[in-house]
Amino acid sequence: MRVLYYYSMFGNGDKVASILEKKGISIRKVENAKPFPRSRFWSILSGGFAASIKKKEKLKDYNKNLDEFDEVIIGSPIWNSRFSTPINTVLNDLSLKDKKVSFVLYSGSGEAPKAIARIEKEYPGSSVVVIKEPKDNSNLEKLLETL
Ligand SMILES: Cc1cc2nc3c(=O)[nH]c(=O)nc-3n(C[C@H](O)[C@H](O)[C@H](O)COP(=O)(O)O)c2cc1C
Repeated sequence: MRVLYYYSMFGNGDKVASILEKKGISIRKVENAKPFPRSRFWSILSGGFAASIKKKEKLKDYNKNLDEFDEVIIGSPIWNSRFSTPINTVLNDLSLKDKKVSFVLYSGSGEAPKAIARIEKEYPGSSVVVIKEPKDNSNLEKLLETL
């Protein structure tokens, strides 16, 4: 059994989750305890800085029990080339040692160099898919086939 933990600020992650849910994957979306700034400009500025210092957000309570799952998929937007700060919290909270871990990352450029470097270091052997703006990506279902 597989579960997706993901975060989405602008809906791209939600699009990914809706497709993975159809494949029978359980979905657990995380949300910030305190809302991020309303404007896209301030979100990018403050989120980008917070990601660069590997900040962990305080999240609303969420289910961390992984007993029924053998694979955990982590979904994150890319902020300043890195994981989004809510996902830093998830990676810190979950006990992923005995699980297969995969990543689905979504970004404006379709690239995620610093997040990938972190995955290679901390989760070696994990599979990673990076998707350029899922909401506008006509290839989305195909790109998710590898998961
Ligand atoms: C704070 C912030 C920083 C971002 N930094 C990058 C980046 O470094 N590289 C990139 O390609 N896209 C960057 N983006 C674009 C997002 O990764 C992209 O739009 C993603 O699909 C958003 O996912 P969401 O709609 O689920 O929140 C950034 C967006 C935000 C809000």
